[in-house]
Amino acid sequence: MQVFDTARDAALSLRPDRPVYGFRPGVLKADAREFMSAFRGTTAYAVKTNDDPRVLKTLVEAGVKAFDVASPAEFASVREADPSAGQFYMHPVKAQSDIRLALETYGIRSLALDHEDEVAKILRIVRALDLDPADITLFVRLATKGHAAYELSKKFGAGASHAVELAERIQRIGFKVGLTFHVGSQVEDLDTYERALASAAWIRNRADADIAALDIGGGFPARYGNDPRRKAPPPMPPLGALLADIHNEIDEWGLGDLPLIAEPGRVIVARSLSVIVRVLLKKGQRVYINDGIWSSLSDAWTGKITLPARLIPDPARPRRGKSEKLMPFRVMGATCDSVDILSRPFYLPENVDTGDWIEIGHIGAYSLSLRTRFNGFYPDTFVEIATPFEDDETGTEAFATVEPRGGMAAE
Ligand SMILES: Cc1ncc(COP(=O)(O)O)c(C=O)c1O
Repeated sequence: MQVFDTARDAALSLRPDRPVYGFRPGVLKADAREFMSAFRGTTAYAVKTNDDPRVLKTLVEAGVKAFDVASPAEFASVREADPSAGQFYMHPVKAQSDIRLALETYGIRSLALDHEDEVAKILRIVRALDLDPADITLFVRLATKGHAAYELSKKFGAGASHAVELAERIQRIGFKVGLTFHVGSQVEDLDTYERALASAAWIRNRADADIAALDIGGGFPARYGNDPRRKAPPPMPPLGALLADIHNEIDEWGLGDLPLIAEPGRVIVARSLSVIVRVLLKKGQRVYINDGIWSSLSDAWTGKITLPARLIPDPARPRRGKSEKLMPFRVMGATCDSVDILSRPFYLPENVDTGDWIEIGHIGAYSLSLRTRFNGFYPDTFVEIATPFEDDETGTEAFATVEPRGGMAAE
């Protein structure tokens, strides 16, 4: 991979007409290490967030030793990155053949579920393989209530009384019992963790079962941009303070004796990737770019996330306007599909023009893993960038709208 100091250097040297990803392994390592040092349990990176082999390898180099996986392809990617890494198979609804592969070929011994029929599926395979249930922890996934850019409890999770029944059933069979929840991705209401922990404590107290571990899932917020026309969301504490609060709640709810696991995704990987896109056309207050919701930007679209963006003007073109006043531009994606329009604008200098580049920052989460080949567009060119997105202040026209909250390493 070619290495550049900044994305601006990469854009001006390569003059790309197709999107180019700027991978920042140094930032990825720093953010992974920050999480691991602030969290007092096992950090199991959620592979679905970004399963690129370069990302997984860099995380292993940073010291990540466990991964949350959801499919055979993810089992294989983790094994490729580190054959000795721990794997937690936390998808609550699994194919029978995938459960077999997990237990037999990959030696996975931690699985999640939220229904008795899933217990039956797992038990059938455990018996067929002649495994000892006591070596396997089945985590009961709890439903949670709260606010996040993505709510996940609409789809998964057992209510509290059902969870008690499941825990007792699992213990009766001879498995170890764990509890897990996922408060939703990019959590916007920190009380959600407290409510989920209260529910875990209630279940532990009611169930005639020994709880062996608590997995608090993902959801920890990453830093994104801020749209000045919208009411700012409640400020998020820096990651260290957020995790300290969660630890306090864990202790206050009497769960502090349990081994802990977390499955962070976006908070670890968001800052490590940007994409350099080209303005194919400027039409009034719209910019048409060569990427969009079917390539790298679907997460920002569905999650209504404001991404930080920086203009990289093409010095080879005469500027048609002088005004560098920041204006909100609607961002139209590369495909012919009319839903391919970002749900949040980019704030760019008024004189942005056709042929300029834009570096879109903090897109490491749910970008590469959600790319499609729709309309024949599939960005796949990578360079390495040495400077963190928000530290690059080259040129007066460079700027970013990174919200000063949800503290990661830059705080
Ligand atoms: C079970 C599970 N764990 C972890 C994650 C990672 O979440 P996040 O990227 O919000 O940290 C997800 C994401 O949807 C998930 O479904």
